[in-house]
Amino acid sequence: MAIARLPQQQILEAVEALRAGELVAFPTETVYGLGANANDPEAVRKIFKVKGRPATHPLIVHIDHPRYLHRWVRELSPEGQKLAEAFWPGPLTLVAKRAPAVSDVITGGQDTVAVRVPNHPVALQLLHAFGGGIAAPSANRYGRVSPTRAEHVREEFEDEVKIILDGGECKVGLESTIVSCVDEVPRVLRPGSISLSQLRAVCPSVQMGPNPNAPRVPGSTSRHYSPTTPVNVVPSRRLEQVVSEFTSKGEKVAVLALRPPATTNPYMTWINAGMRPDHYSRHLYANLRTLDKAGAKILLVEEVPPGEKWDAARDRLRRAASAENIVTYDQDIAAWVADFGEDAP
Ligand code: TXA
Ligand code: MG
Repeated sequence: MAIARLPQQQILEAVEALRAGELVAFPTETVYGLGANANDPEAVRKIFKVKGRPATHPLIVHIDHPRYLHRWVRELSPEGQKLAEAFWPGPLTLVAKRAPAVSDVITGGQDTVAVRVPNHPVALQLLHAFGGGIAAPSANRYGRVSPTRAEHVREEFEDEVKIILDGGECKVGLESTIVSCVDEVPRVLRPGSISLSQLRAVCPSVQMGPNPNAPRVPGSTSRHYSPTTPVNVVPSRRLEQVVSEFTSKGEKVAVLALRPPATTNPYMTWINAGMRPDHYSRHLYANLRTLDKAGAKILLVEEVPPGEKWDAARDRLRRAASAENIVTYDQDIAAWVADFGEDAP
């Protein structure tokens, strides 16, 4: 897992591309980003086009140091300032009132903007050399699994993105924790590797989940992070039973589990991702990509344990396994699979 600086020549080529309004894919500690010059609305529009992302889904502006925050943010609450100080550079995105010059293309026309200082040597190298903000979503097609290796970006955008900076495997593997600091009470809009209790240790007033009275931000609720194979989350003790529902009919099954299988089966591809939440999260997207290629009828994911260390992984799995992915195979099993998170009666 080589996370090192890249030769400066490669960085300068990427900077030139950004200045020319082209897209550059780059590594961060969370996932790879698909970046454009945040001051160039035409360049930022290309991101939406290439990803197939609706224009109303706002992007994160990446900067290399909080001292540039004022270029993007009109004001940051004292809570937001504390969080920035504690976690930047790192896997935290803050949402705040936008500065007047921030393009509507980035914010989706909202009065707020999302900003983060990533903690990856190559991302920082690029941002230093570029000297401005880089607007970047995860470097995957809309609704698909985020890339955690340069080769994943290549698979997605072989023809469209010429410059893909290779910074090795992303250490965190899941997207940043997003905290809205727009109201008095800071709110976690997307769980990530920085947990609620870590946030509260710095800022005790932080709440989980968006303000129920605030309008929903597009992209925060819709189905996301999905492989093409239908995904179902299954309680641990039912896993083998559900697997055999399919394999007994000669249908292929892909399984992402926290343990090895009880028995092997020629119709089954099983990945044991282990019980460590950091390790599980780091490899989650790569594992989903591998299992998606198994040619299976369904991708079964063993439910992850309770506890906040699993919050981010649980959130992504819930979104990957939306109700539209429920395959009707056996009525009573389908009923509890549909009721994700609930164990069977
Ligand atoms: O770890 C990450 O955050 C990665 C790396 C590349 O930095 N980026 C990432 O970007 O995950 P993306 O576009 O895939 O997800 C950005 C999320 C979206 O769910 C979007 O709704 C939310 O950030 N967002 C952006 N601007 C916002 C705003 N003004 N208010 C609320 N949410 C916002
Ligand atoms: Mg994304």
